[in-house]
Amino acid sequence: MSAGDKLRLGVLGSGRGTNLDAIFRALHDRAIPAEVKVVLSDVRDAGILHIGRSHRVHTKYVYPGESPFRLDEASEHNISNALHHEQVELVILAGFMRIIGPELLAAYPRRILNIHPSLLPKHPGLRAWEQALAAGDTVAGCTVHYVDQGVDSGEIIAQAEVDVMPDDTPEALHARIQHAEHVLYPEVIDHFARNRPFAG
Ligand code: GAR
Repeated sequence: MSAGDKLRLGVLGSGRGTNLDAIFRALHDRAIPAEVKVVLSDVRDAGILHIGRSHRVHTKYVYPGESPFRLDEASEHNISNALHHEQVELVILAGFMRIIGPELLAAYPRRILNIHPSLLPKHPGLRAWEQALAAGDTVAGCTVHYVDQGVDSGEIIAQAEVDVMPDDTPEALHARIQHAEHVLYPEVIDHFARNRPFAG
C-alpha cells in the first residue's frame, strides 16, 4: 500500500496527549493504514503538541478566542484551514476541551470523532470519572462517538467498560479508564482506516 492510500488524520487536543501517543504506537505496531498529518491545540504548551513534534508531525497552537468553552469564529476558521491544508479526511478529538462549532461540523460531517471518559450518555462534561464515583457506579468506562453541536452528545460508535473498585480514588479510576481509552481509540481508527465508512 502506498502512503497515498493512508487515511489522513488531523488530531485536536488540549492536554497531555496520552491518547495521541497510543494512536501513534498503534499506527506503527498494527500497520493501520492511517497517518497523522497535523496536531492542533488550543493550549499553547500542551503536551499533545510535544508528542506530535516528537513524531515529526506538523503541530500548531491556535488561539481559541475569549470563551473558555467554545472556539470563536476566527479560531474555528484557522483550524478548518489547517485541516484542509493537510487534506485531512478524519478529525480525531483527543482530549480537546472545547465545543466544536458549525463551520467545522459542516466541513467534516460524520468525520469528527471524540473520546470521552464515561459510558455515555452517562456523565458528559468535565471529570467524568469523578461523576461516576459520586454516582456510586460499579462500572465505568469510555466512549468513542461522532461529534455534533452538543457536549459529548453525538452518536455512539464504541464503548469499553472498566470495573470501579470499592476503594477507588479518582486518580486510580481515571488511570484505569485512560488505559481502556488507549486500546479503544486505536481500534476505532483502525476500523475507519480499513473500512472507510464515510466514503462515497
Ligand atoms: C481523555 O481522558 C479524554 O477522554 C478526555 O480528556 C482526556 C485527555 O487525555 N476528554 C474529555 O473529557 C472530553 N469530554 P490525553 O490528553 O492524555 O489524551
